Amino acid sequence: MTAFPLVAQEPEAEPEKRYRSRRVQQAFDRGGEDAVKVLMRDLVKRAKKSGIRYKCGQCHDNLRTYPLKPGAHEEFERLLQIVSAH
Ligand code: HEC
Repeated sequence: MTAFPLVAQEPEAEPEKRYRSRRVQQAFDRGGEDAVKVLMRDLVKRAKKSGIRYKCGQCHDNLRTYPLKPGAHEEFERLLQIVSAH
């Protein structure tokens, strides 16, 4: 009798990412980094409608790997508050 492998080859898993913000995490789980970008652009656009200008470069050092600048998390919290208040 040949033992049948219990677990077939695991499908290639998406690299796991953990974000602080639940909204960012949800976007990533849904559509990966592209979905995070869409969310970020949407938030920036909505803040602009409230008269507050944000640029990606305010919180990110570059737009290839999106490293966070110091204080980016706090800025982001503020951005979320601005868009949820309007
Ligand atoms: C107010 C600050 C802020 C602005 C403005 C901002 N971001 Fe972000 N961004 C963040 C923070 C903070 C995170 C990490 C979120 C977390 O960990 O919950 C992030 C994460 C990301 C990520 C995921 C990076 C990774 O390592 O997976 C991408 C992509 C991204 N932002 C793109 C953009 C783009 C594109 C713009 C402009 C439209 C933008 N962001 C504007 C604060 C900002």
